[in-house]
Amino acid sequence: MFADSRLSPLPHVPARAPAMPPALRVGLIGMGTVGTGVWRVLRRNQALIAARSGRAVEIVAVATRTPARAAAAQAEAPGLRLLDDPLRLAADPGVDVLLELAGGSAARDWVLAALAQGKHVVTANKALLAEHGEQLAQAAVRHGRVLAYEAAVAGAVPVIKALREGLAGNRIDALAGVLNGTSNYILTRMQAAGLDFATALAEAQALGYAEADPSLDVDGTDAAHKLTLLAANAFGLPPALDAVHVEGLRDLQPGDMAAAAQLGYVVKLLAIARRGAQGMELRVHPALVPAQHALARLDGASNGLLVRADAAGEAFFSGAGAGGEPTASAVLADLVDLARHPGTDGRWGGPTAIPTLGLRADAPAAPLPMAQVRTRQLLRLLPGKTFNEAQVLRQLAHAGVKVERRAWGPAEAAGASPSLLLLTAPVPDGLAAQAAERLQAHTGARVRRLRVEDFGAQQFE
Ligand SMILES: NC(=O)c1ccc[n+]([C@@H]2O[C@H](COP(=O)([O-])OP(=O)(O)OC[C@H]3O[C@@H](n4cnc5c(N)ncnc54)[C@H](OP(=O)(O)O)[C@@H]3O)[C@@H](O)[C@H]2O)c1
Repeated sequence: MFADSRLSPLPHVPARAPAMPPALRVGLIGMGTVGTGVWRVLRRNQALIAARSGRAVEIVAVATRTPARAAAAQAEAPGLRLLDDPLRLAADPGVDVLLELAGGSAARDWVLAALAQGKHVVTANKALLAEHGEQLAQAAVRHGRVLAYEAAVAGAVPVIKALREGLAGNRIDALAGVLNGTSNYILTRMQAAGLDFATALAEAQALGYAEADPSLDVDGTDAAHKLTLLAANAFGLPPALDAVHVEGLRDLQPGDMAAAAQLGYVVKLLAIARRGAQGMELRVHPALVPAQHALARLDGASNGLLVRADAAGEAFFSGAGAGGEPTASAVLADLVDLARHPGTDGRWGGPTAIPTLGLRADAPAAPLPMAQVRTRQLLRLLPGKTFNEAQVLRQLAHAGVKVERRAWGPAEAAGASPSLLLLTAPVPDGLAAQAAERLQAHTGARVRRLRVEDFGAQQFE
């Protein structure tokens, strides 16, 4: 067959696959919604993850308050060790990475202990990072370890990686997100079915989308936690919850949603970080968004983030914002990164140069007070008695509030006068609040005020 010696086969060399480095050994705290999701996806995609990482990724030990929670996992993997003390897991020499999926503030001690023991840490705990991120990031730097938290913001949607890697060559100018699935579900139901807040919340609770105590979600705190992490990565701002202006949903009324719809908008709970001409804005509040905009079209429990960057222009990311497997997807991305990750000395496990919370050198000055933030506004006047429209417009003009569009909206109740809807030009928030108060005093009308975000060049650049 190979008469021509030039075509004879090469001498047989026994195939020897290059030795795979040892598995990345993960110690997991928490076997709840996310912990169970990670366990399931890691087992299902084990071979794929090992091939992509260049090494196996294995959960070798689990700590929970009630170890019985992890009994099913141990039945699948008899070598799995179960513990009831997370601190012991953080110090365990058989663990390379601590995966913190329990939540709560006790996690700070576990994370600090693991970093001090030379372990990398992956967490989904946005509250922990928003409150203690600076201290934890410094500990990570001190010990040359990675503190990764892709799952802490926007569930499955890789927004931290987008800012840190995909957009790393850009100056980020602004970002705006729908970051809380529970609130978004409630708003979607209020908008689509005309429900009031309490009814929509009760429905979300019955379906398991909202906790028995929904305050963190509906009061805007959860979205603010996530915003601080995005702003750290985008602008180098140290996470600080008290730097964010936060307003939730409780005050919204079905009439607000109807007025928004009449003018071509929907109401969303937006988390915004923006480097404006006057200063840095950090805010979470309900706002009118044009109904055709990608952020407006996020229904139910979805999350989305719009980023404006100098070279990339506008980029939009969206997907499942919560849930066991979607959040596990983000956790696994961090674990695969760590499994691949060479240190700055070129060895796996060597020191890291990845900044945990963005680069401080880029940090702008302290955020603007909300009163100085300029947005367009919707003023909705609900008349107690008839009033003179021309007089209202004169009074607003006198206060420095320019009205760009006006319309008559539905009455608040049967037999009541129609409401007057006024869309203003961009105006400082404090000035709009004062003008609304004066209008209320002079006309006897109840004045409801909602901010408008058009994301046009005028406002969101
Ligand atoms: N659920 C989501 O969709 C989602 C999305 C993004 C981020 N996150 C974040 O992910 C983390 C976990 O959320 P989850 O929804 O999975 O919570 P979860 O279902 O309540 O589960 C928490 C788990 O942690 C354990 N645990 C809690 N405190 C502990 C302690 N002191 N010591 C040992 N174990 C403890 C619990 O054990 P016991 O059952 O024995 O009490 C349970 O196994 C939180 O930080 C959350 O904010 C969640």
